[in-house]
Amino acid sequence: MIFVTGGAGFIGSNFVLDWLAAGGEGVVNLDKLTYAGNRENLRSLEGNPRHVFVQGDIGDQALVTDLLARHQPRAIVNFAAESHVDRSIHSPGDFIATNVVGSFRLLEAARVFCDGLPAASRDQFRFLHVSTDEVYGSLAPAEAAFAEGRRYEPNSPYSASKAASDHLVRAYHHTYGLPVLTTNCSNNYGPYHFPEKLIPLMIVNALAGKPLPVYGDGMQVRDWLYVGDHCSAIRRVLEAGRPGEVYNIGGWNEKPNIDIVRTICALLDELRPRAAGGSYTQQVAYVKDRPGHDRRYAFDARKIEREVGWYPAVSLESGIR
Ligand SMILES: NC(=O)c1ccc[n+]([C@@H]2O[C@H](COP(=O)([O-])OP(=O)(O)OC[C@H]3O[C@@H](n4cnc5c(N)ncnc54)[C@H](O)[C@@H]3O)[C@@H](O)[C@H]2O)c1
Repeated sequence: MIFVTGGAGFIGSNFVLDWLAAGGEGVVNLDKLTYAGNRENLRSLEGNPRHVFVQGDIGDQALVTDLLARHQPRAIVNFAAESHVDRSIHSPGDFIATNVVGSFRLLEAARVFCDGLPAASRDQFRFLHVSTDEVYGSLAPAEAAFAEGRRYEPNSPYSASKAASDHLVRAYHHTYGLPVLTTNCSNNYGPYHFPEKLIPLMIVNALAGKPLPVYGDGMQVRDWLYVGDHCSAIRRVLEAGRPGEVYNIGGWNEKPNIDIVRTICALLDELRPRAAGGSYTQQVAYVKDRPGHDRRYAFDARKIEREVGWYPAVSLESGIR
């Protein structure tokens, strides 16, 4: 078995579905089912004996300890998190509880479990922590893209809480020898994306005839990656990554937010023309910028290509379509 946390969320559910479709081992899927978790994402797995779903909190150390003892997974893949920057500005406490304290309790349970394994299984065991590019802070327009080892400069309660969890993961390797892997990924998009995030929000609002809210001048630059590519990168790092190492996962697709919105509008103009005529771009509405909004993230993802041979397969145009 492998033990996945947060596997009812956007990326976690894509990972579990892809993993099982690719013939991977069974999955124990621990998810608290917050507002962001949706069992409908996993509906196609109903009755599948290779998928064991457990509703619960990664911060419940007794529950995690019991699940690890019962299922004896060879790896833990930690997706569980509070993940929306806007929510972290309004209620940061949930982010500290799950991303910092929850990750700590999960690491503790993993450390004790791993220490109790026979030497051969212990060598094979992996704790893969899924993190974000946002921990590195904001780049100036011409600055070199983030590479692994760059100083952490998180600017929102979300990114600060993810940075804290990354540090704990690192410390559990250096202090206790836990065989950890950390992946930092850029912005994902694709199926089961919760509609509070930019791309699904724009699609849903456009089709409903509502305004398409764009923060500030819309020139915040992000790197975009199709979620299936993120999942294949994680599988590859789990297979071939070196314990203790960090891998940046990027799409080599830097775009200002407004370009993403225009791309969506152009595709919808073609695929679902507005009943009233004209382009969906007429619905774009610039709104007050988010406080502390980072201007640019960009990834230098050469290490993951060099070390484990992973490169994204899906282009932005075809992925969004
Ligand atoms: N979405 C992105 O673009 C992106 C990019 C890079 C990294 N990440 C990271 O990937 C991971 C998954 O992101 P996502 O977009 O799928 O998030 P999401 O918000 O869609 O899903 C998070 C899932 O975790 C579950 N969860 C929350 N708190 C929990 C807890 N205490 N115990 C157990 N389960 C809990 C939720 O119910 C939900 O199913 C996160 O760690 C996030 O930081 C996301």
